[in-house]
Amino acid sequence: MTSQPPRMTTTGGAPIADNQNSLTAGPRGPVLMQDYQLMEKLAHQNRERIPERVVHAKGWGAFGTLTVTHDITRYTRAKVFGAVGKKTDLLIRFSTVAGELGAADAERDVRGFAVKFYTEEGNWDVVGNNTPVFFIRDPLKFPDFIHTQKRHPRTNLRSPTAMWDFWSLSPESLHQVTILMSDRGLPPSPRFMNGYGSHTYSFWNDQGERFWVKFHFKTQQGHKHLTNDEAAQVVGRSRESYQEDLFGSIEAGDFPRWTLQVQVMPEADADKTPYNPFDLTKVWPHADYPLIDVGVVELNRNPDNYFAEIEQAAFSPSNVVPGIGHSPDKMLQARIFSYADAHRYRLGTHYEALPVNQPKCPVHHYHKDGAMRFFRNDTGNPDAYYEPNSLGGPAQDPSVAEPPLRLSGEVGRHDHRAGNDDYSQPRALFTLMDQGQKERLFANIAAAMQGVPQAIVERQLGHFALVHADYAAGVRRALALGEGAGRPETAIP
Ligand code: NDP
Ligand code: HEM
Repeated sequence: MTSQPPRMTTTGGAPIADNQNSLTAGPRGPVLMQDYQLMEKLAHQNRERIPERVVHAKGWGAFGTLTVTHDITRYTRAKVFGAVGKKTDLLIRFSTVAGELGAADAERDVRGFAVKFYTEEGNWDVVGNNTPVFFIRDPLKFPDFIHTQKRHPRTNLRSPTAMWDFWSLSPESLHQVTILMSDRGLPPSPRFMNGYGSHTYSFWNDQGERFWVKFHFKTQQGHKHLTNDEAAQVVGRSRESYQEDLFGSIEAGDFPRWTLQVQVMPEADADKTPYNPFDLTKVWPHADYPLIDVGVVELNRNPDNYFAEIEQAAFSPSNVVPGIGHSPDKMLQARIFSYADAHRYRLGTHYEALPVNQPKCPVHHYHKDGAMRFFRNDTGNPDAYYEPNSLGGPAQDPSVAEPPLRLSGEVGRHDHRAGNDDYSQPRALFTLMDQGQKERLFANIAAAMQGVPQAIVERQLGHFALVHADYAAGVRRALALGEGAGRPETAIP
């Protein structure tokens, strides 16, 4: 700490003599337009907000490390997994889906679990949730689904009717709806929940063999949950309970950890499983594809500036590195487009040059100008600004090519619901809940259905009955008891 504070300047670097008083004609004013320091200050304030994320607007994040504990090099050549003991820096941003930037933290909602690994061969992002599945399996449904989660255009309120109308007309949502309404739908802090890559991704190894893979981040803090009533009390006390808990525990040196595990499926198995392994509404049962330990993720450093490092963080499923690839999952392909598109809109053309998004390895590309082109992209030869060139500019490296993937099938808008079993996996989940968990599930659903027209409720009960007779009967009983009536609004009111 120096005794003299640094000298305050304009953004142009000129020293400022007075930051307390505007430049005026006489002590009573008016202000002179030549007070460019005042103009600059007001103009900057007007530009302090950027568009919030269209979904997952409310979030909490921190930096940390992945430490590899087990050798999985037989599945992937990704350098991040190159050796046991290897450490890689990472950033995690947790979020809720539906709430706006100022939403209360303790609301029932799916939680985002987005991880950026700064690997030596580029940034690898796993942009997942705290659930292993999702509400829909065809990306054409995503904007409609999100519209039902956000505000009604006329009332400007969240609409339980829209939510249950959509869900009851989309039985592929049953699995995720069951998780959302279970205890796991309302953790007291991100520390007490799992993360899942959810989609099927791919690994490929040095021999060019491909494997399908799912990523799991298992909390080492244990699972905890809030009931709706407990959450209402938390929100009454603080709308920022997640930020307080995550930031506070890291400041106190109590670093949260997750065990990184993978499920691995040989490429040829994809034709044999009784379910489509690329269907985002399905898990791979552990008995078929057991969890394999990979490493430990630890969060140990809070950001210094929330806006610069968390709000401006840009995660995208398109960020993969050699040894890790995508899969035929339709939802994943849409996301590969959607996120970078959102970042260009939300943050600007060169968002990947912002310090939090910048890879921690050399970056050499031929993209040129655009707003905020402030970074150098030098390769030692300013004449090599096109490709191919004979001037020694950056060149492709065929050694990192992904092995070819054979695809077949007729082009068409194939019915994504045809022949799909939307009930067995929700049944497996319902069956593993104890009676207390089931009762809370029934009560949470009944609370979320308050005010929904009976025809929609009946349609949804029909789906619950196809999962398990006890499921439908339990919700019907909770509805008759008026469970949840008069409860405060939540993300899913
Ligand atoms: P297992 O008994 O091997 O695994 C059950 C899984 O369910 C565990 O991963 C457990 O997570 C998780 N779980 C427990 N309670 C809940 C809940 N309320 N909400 C969400 N997950 C919960 O069985 P299977 O692999 O055969 O799967 C059976 C069902 O378990 C599936 O249909 C799916 O609904 C659910 N599930 C399965 C996962 C998978 O990848 N196979 C992953 C997560 C859920 P934990 O170990 O962290 O306590
Ligand atoms: C955020 C689109 C499905 C997890 C976003 C954003 C968009 C988007 C545009 C905002 C990005 C930004 O501004 O930075 C979509 C589309 C989907 C889809 C089009 C389906 C077709 C999913 C699924 C998951 C998921 C299935 C999880 C498995 C997330 C997370 C964030 C996010 C965690 C926040 C990332 C962060 O913390 O910055 N999504 N999404 N999304 N989405 Fe999705």
